[in-house]
Amino acid sequence: MKHFSYQKKQLHIENIPLSTLIKTYGSPTYVYSYAALKEAYESYQKAFKPLNALLCYSMKCNSNLSILRSFINLGSGIDIVSGGELFRALKAGADPKKIVFSGVGKNAEEMTYALKKGILMFNVESAQELALLDQVALKLKKQAPIALRINPNIDPKTHPYITTGMKKSKFGIQYEEAFNLYQEAQQRKGIHIRGIDCHIGSQLTQVGPFVDALERVLALVDKIQSQGIALEYLDLGGGLGIRYNEEKPPTPQAYARAIGKALSAYKLKLILEPGRSLMGNAGALLTQVLYTKDRDNKRFVIVDAAMNDLIRPAFYQSYHEILPLAQKSGKKEKVDVVGPICETGDFLATDRALPKLQSGDTLAVLSAGAYGFSMASHYNTRPKAAEVLVKGSKHYLIRKRENLKDLIKGEEIPKALQ
Ligand code: LLP
Repeated sequence: MKHFSYQKKQLHIENIPLSTLIKTYGSPTYVYSYAALKEAYESYQKAFKPLNALLCYSMKCNSNLSILRSFINLGSGIDIVSGGELFRALKAGADPKKIVFSGVGKNAEEMTYALKKGILMFNVESAQELALLDQVALKLKKQAPIALRINPNIDPKTHPYITTGMKKSKFGIQYEEAFNLYQEAQQRKGIHIRGIDCHIGSQLTQVGPFVDALERVLALVDKIQSQGIALEYLDLGGGLGIRYNEEKPPTPQAYARAIGKALSAYKLKLILEPGRSLMGNAGALLTQVLYTKDRDNKRFVIVDAAMNDLIRPAFYQSYHEILPLAQKSGKKEKVDVVGPICETGDFLATDRALPKLQSGDTLAVLSAGAYGFSMASHYNTRPKAAEVLVKGSKHYLIRKRENLKDLIKGEEIPKALQ
C-alpha cells in the first residue's frame, strides 16, 4: 500500500491528496494508482523473465477499459472468462494472440466469438465443453487451440469460496481423467492441442501449493508427451496473494524461484494469469461518513459506500484497512463501518479500531483495486461509483458515476401493464 501514504497529515495517492479527488469526483469513488499497477506488473515481468513467461492479466479483478489499456501497453496479455470480457479486452486494444479463455461454462456463442477473433487458447474444463468446442470450430472451418484445465486436487490453503483446484470444486478436469481426454482431443478434427492449464485458487500466501500443483501437472505432461502429443504452453493460472492486513504473501520473485527449477527441464512456454496481485493494492474506495449511531456498547459509522460497491467484507468476511483522509490523533474506538443497504451483512468493517469519526469525515478503504468495482452491483438501486486513475501529477475520470437514468437502462413496461 506504499502508493497510499500520509503527507502532512493528508492521505495521498502518490502525490495527490485524496481529499482533492473526493472533492472533484464526489463519493463514493474508486481511485487507482498507475504507478502501483505498473510496479506490480514490472516486478512479475522481471521475476519471470528468465522463464520467458507470458503474463495474461486476469481482467475479472478489474475490467475498466483504462486499466486494461494500461496493462496492454505494458505488454500484457489478458485472461478472460466470458464473451463480455473478450469484448472489453478487444475494445481496450488487446492482441487476440495473447488472450486465454478460461471458465467452466463457455457457451457456443462465446466460443464462436473467440474463434473468429483468433485467441491464443481456450482453457477447456470438461469433456462436454471439448465436444461442443470441436463442433463449433468445425462449423467455422477452424481448429480451436486448447489447453485442458487440470484439477490437481491441491489445497491452496485459502478461503473456501476462492479454492478452485480441489476435487470437490466445480473447476477443471479430474486429474485421473485428463490423460484420456487429451487422447480424445487429439482425435478431434476441430481441436488443436496447445497446452495444459491449472488454477488452484486465489489469495495464496504460500508458494508450496503452487509447487505441488506444478509437480502434478508436470507428471501429466510427461505422460501426455510420451504418447506423442506435443504441448507448447503450460498455464499455471493466477492466485498470488496480497497484503490486506497481516498477510506476508510471497513476492513474484520467490514464486518464480520456487517453480523455476522444475520447469527448466521442459520446453514449455509458461503463462501466468495474475489479477489481484497486480491491482489489489493499486486501488482504494473513497467514502464519506453520513451519520454515526450508538447502540449498546456499539457504535455504527454509516458511510455512503456499501456492499454493492465493495462486497468482499460481506461475502468473504475479508479485511480491508480503513484510513481517514485527514489523519486524526487521539484515542481509537471500536466501530462497525456500515453502508446504507438494507441488510445486516452490509458492512465494510466490524469491530474496527478507528479514531473518532463524525458526519462529513472522509475515509479510504484500501486494497480495493481488485474485485472491488468489478463485483459491484445495483442492489438497492444504487448507481455505481465513479472510477479515477492517477498517473503522475494528473488524475483522470475513467468511469463516470452512474446517474438515475443508467439505473433503468434497457427496462420497458409492456403495453399490457399500461
Ligand atoms: N485465472 C483463473 C482461471 C481464475 O479463476 C482467477 C480468479 C484468476 C486467474 C486470477 O486470480 P488472482 O490472481 O486474482 O488470485 N472475488 C474473489 C476472488 C475470486 C477469484 C476468481 N478467480 C475475491 O474478491 O477475493
